[in-house]
Amino acid sequence: MSNVRSPYLFTICQAGAEAVLKRELGRAHPKLKFAFSRPGFVTFKSPVPVVDNVELHSVFARAYGLSFGKLGSVAEPTALLQRLQELLPEAEGPFVLQVFAREDDPAPMEAALHDPERAQATAVLVESVRTALKAACPRLWAPEAEPRRGQGVVDVLLLEPNEAANSPLYLGFHRHGFGHTGWPGGRPPLVLPAEAPSRSYLKLEEALLRGHVPIRSGDLALEVGCAPGGAAYALLQRGLNVCGVDAAVCAPIVANSKRFIAIRKSISLVEPRELPRVVHWLLFDINAGSSRSIPEAKRLVEYYRSSLLGLVLTLKLADWHKADEIPRVLEQLRHWGFEHVVARHLYHNRQEVSVLGLMPKAQGRTPKGS
Ligand SMILES: C[S@@+](CC[C@H](N)C(=O)[O-])C[C@H]1O[C@@H](n2cnc3c(N)ncnc32)[C@H](O)[C@@H]1O
Repeated sequence: MSNVRSPYLFTICQAGAEAVLKRELGRAHPKLKFAFSRPGFVTFKSPVPVVDNVELHSVFARAYGLSFGKLGSVAEPTALLQRLQELLPEAEGPFVLQVFAREDDPAPMEAALHDPERAQATAVLVESVRTALKAACPRLWAPEAEPRRGQGVVDVLLLEPNEAANSPLYLGFHRHGFGHTGWPGGRPPLVLPAEAPSRSYLKLEEALLRGHVPIRSGDLALEVGCAPGGAAYALLQRGLNVCGVDAAVCAPIVANSKRFIAIRKSISLVEPRELPRVVHWLLFDINAGSSRSIPEAKRLVEYYRSSLLGLVLTLKLADWHKADEIPRVLEQLRHWGFEHVVARHLYHNRQEVSVLGLMPKAQGRTPKGS
């Protein structure tokens, strides 16, 4: 099945994270050489052609695949179509088409709120390219938007969406599997509910979806650093009971919930008798570096060893070089007994990464039901 090859790879990351991504891939895949970059977009060259199911070991690449370079433009996609038809024998399809625009702002959701006209113009361009490619070779495309494992995905990137119809198109291809989100350009299809107290709602929802975390209605979550309550709101919406630790106060929509208990102090001042007896999920989202969050997380993991299923920890990176600490943090989590351990720079993360650890007893548990 894996017969599409290219010596080039593209990666999508948060604008501003290009250098940390290059460093990371330079270590994990030393044969890859940096080729070209724009904010949020970095390409690499391999000494030998790479196959389409290649797995990159990366925290910072939100999306990646084989790269076939710039081909045509939004107004004139013929060159891209010709290359596609050479590249993809129809017998191997149907393929999932994912069109997306390069984002040159580290906080694209906030940027869209500040400049809704620009965001709308980009969405219109993306849709026009999708419609044109779908219409030009309908037999290539699968009807669904999210790929199945093993299915081929055609990535079409609008490299310079501000140039409107003149924006070059960039062609990529990958086979869906471990390490890929299934979302165009790695952007999750999430919308912030108007009543959510903070954008941490999106960050937690993305971490849960991306990690296939088997969280269930009725579970108990302890969140350290819970105010103003975006993540707690997401958990309450999912039917969990939540205990939140934070000296700051949560928004009324969270604080007034019958399934929410607040411990209004710093975690370092909380005594065991104040804590719930059973906790299934531990969340850490304090605005402090690993030297403060890791010892506190360790203490709680040990305390809840018999009931704990998993940990979601936001690791703040005071500067990007702090990313060098990530492998050591993952090693610590394994040492504490977590079996599945992964760090990801999520679409909704800023200068921080989301670390997920699942205990062996969480493996095989399904996300729904009880
Ligand atoms: C990024 S905000 C958390 C956002 C929150 N998770 C949400 O969903 O809205 C960081 C929070 O960590 C809290 N914090 C910082 N140090 C803490 C500590 N030692 N113990 C508990 N909370 C702490 C701060 O008061 C602040 O409210």
